[in-house]
Amino acid sequence: MILPSKEIVDQAYVKDYEKLYKEVQEDPEAFWENIAHELSWFKPWDKVLEWNFPYARWFVGAQCNIVNNALDRHQKTATKDKLAYIWVGQDKSERKYTYGELNEQVCKFANVLKSLGIRKGDKVSIYLPRIPEQFIAMLACAKIGAVHSVVFSGFSSEALKNRILDAQAKLVITANAYPYKDKVLESKKTVDEAIKDIPTIEHVIVVKRIESEGKGKETSIGNEVGQSNNSNNLTSSPNRPPNPNLMTAVRDLWYHELMAKTDTICSTEIMEATDPLFILYTSGSTGKPKGVLHAHGGYMVGIYLTLKWIFNLQPDDIWFCTADAGWVTGHSYIVYSPLINGATTFVYEGTPDYPHPGIWWELIQKYKISKFYTAPTAVRAMMRLGDEIPNKYDLSSLKILGSVGEPINPEAWMWYYKTIGKERCPIMDTWWQTETGMQMITPLPSSPLKPGSANKPFFGVEADVVDDKGSPAAVNTQGFLVIKKPWPAMLRTIYGDHERYKQQYWSTFPGIYWTGDEARRDEDGYFWIMGRADDVIKVSGHRLGSSEIESALVSHPFVAESAVVGIPHELKGQGVVAFVTLVSGQAPSETLKDELKKHVVTQIGALARPEQIRFAKQLPKTRSGKIMRRLLRQIASEGKITGDTTTLEDISVVAALSQDEE
Ligand code: WTA
Repeated sequence: MILPSKEIVDQAYVKDYEKLYKEVQEDPEAFWENIAHELSWFKPWDKVLEWNFPYARWFVGAQCNIVNNALDRHQKTATKDKLAYIWVGQDKSERKYTYGELNEQVCKFANVLKSLGIRKGDKVSIYLPRIPEQFIAMLACAKIGAVHSVVFSGFSSEALKNRILDAQAKLVITANAYPYKDKVLESKKTVDEAIKDIPTIEHVIVVKRIESEGKGKETSIGNEVGQSNNSNNLTSSPNRPPNPNLMTAVRDLWYHELMAKTDTICSTEIMEATDPLFILYTSGSTGKPKGVLHAHGGYMVGIYLTLKWIFNLQPDDIWFCTADAGWVTGHSYIVYSPLINGATTFVYEGTPDYPHPGIWWELIQKYKISKFYTAPTAVRAMMRLGDEIPNKYDLSSLKILGSVGEPINPEAWMWYYKTIGKERCPIMDTWWQTETGMQMITPLPSSPLKPGSANKPFFGVEADVVDDKGSPAAVNTQGFLVIKKPWPAMLRTIYGDHERYKQQYWSTFPGIYWTGDEARRDEDGYFWIMGRADDVIKVSGHRLGSSEIESALVSHPFVAESAVVGIPHELKGQGVVAFVTLVSGQAPSETLKDELKKHVVTQIGALARPEQIRFAKQLPKTRSGKIMRRLLRQIASEGKITGDTTTLEDISVVAALSQDEE
């Protein structure tokens, strides 16, 4: 157990976790109500929580807008002149926005959206890389009551298409192209491909991140344009000629041209607290991603408090969360919560290894980052490169470190604690999900820490570990992680699919929320998250569904059937292994393996590329026809299969003998 220093405890908002946790448990609604009073509302609530199983409505009757808290209210205080964002491009160029400047950009873009007919309740898809316009676009949508659906820029055109269709978006916002290491990725071409059969898209707004003609200053990163073998064919080579066909007349509009013509005054839409704020697609156990829907009121209260207390946010902090706003971590803890808290957020456009593997440490030194939040996969990758790289930089500005997205193994935890935090900075290992909206199981700065444990539930969160019947599991016994009471930032539903919402989260253990994770609780009440119990795979912290990858493989004409499993991977946490049976007449080959990997990249994105493809004559199934994934997982991780097909044939025999296993 690692005890907090006196200095850290003195500064912490919460000094006695156990006492406060018990107090809150007696009346969580009163607790959240008190916190809600710290924010601005157009009209107060009639009721804190209306719990109509399985639907929670928080702050019923209240009117608000998350942007009123993130931007508007700061315009009347000294925060107006404080920096909201310090953005650094891959080429080290800087863009800084005070709260006043950010508000102006958001008002302008909100007016642009309105001028294009976007109204309250309309859906807007945002397919932008990590540039300030990504945040501006999200905030502008929220300001006018439109519902944003951000799609991570690493998804392929096919994945983007499915998400646009499901959300019924009217408008898409993208960039012409953007730098990614020494390549240029042409996101506009991906959008064109995605929407070619979607006539309901009225407009595409295009941010010019790269000056394709090689002119211009701010957006130009000419020297970094390089070769690429990206299988999406959406990259450019250097010195390419300007693309005269980039913009389709009428439909496609340049962001900078629209912004030049618009007004800086725009009122913020009055929303019901329970009105939708965003849809964010995430993977579950079926092939179709789920549109997790969050609302303005409860979400803003939950994310506001968690960041503030868990990272002990102070006015002079520089906050660096390395996520992308394409994922929930970015929604909650790059965009909305830091702004509500009036914090200064640092954002780096590039990847952690570009232009050199010490770039994060260099940036921490230069910008005096005090709170740093990243993913275990990045910590492991840095650890592998050794202490020498971080030791070259002055990391003394750091005060608190954070981890999110997957379990952090004790070895990586200790390295992070010693080499990055110099044994001064506590690590907040925060467990939460797209669905929970906010951090749920976590230490606080004043908590005694156990490396590898996500510690205890946040205030008002009633987490438990249960057995397969839903009864509390014994101490130190692995079971299923559940949440027993509604919490303010919880999802409202799955967009367009209430039934799936009910089935997915509230039916496995009747009456309680099932997270999909396995965990155990030790003798001190600390939670140890073991990973997913369902078919979700976490590759480098990115959430992927087995069946999503299986559908992608089966859409290849040579593939008859496929089963995808995750296996432990030293750096990525998990890697994807795909078992594939071919249609008759097709023979396994190395070339086909490569082709299938590329096919998955085209269908979903590079993040889903299988580590291995293994051909099989048949897949092991239970008598009812269910693929025995657990068996395959075992086979894949133990490396029992060496040849392409032979052993698997034997396995189908094994499978036949153990039909009741799954
Ligand atoms: C996993 C990311 C262990 C977990 C915010 C969860 C974690 C899934 C942790 C949600 C953690 C997240 N320790 N596992 N600290 N944080 N997870 O929706 O399996 O992308 O169910 O949200 O990530 O992933 P999602």
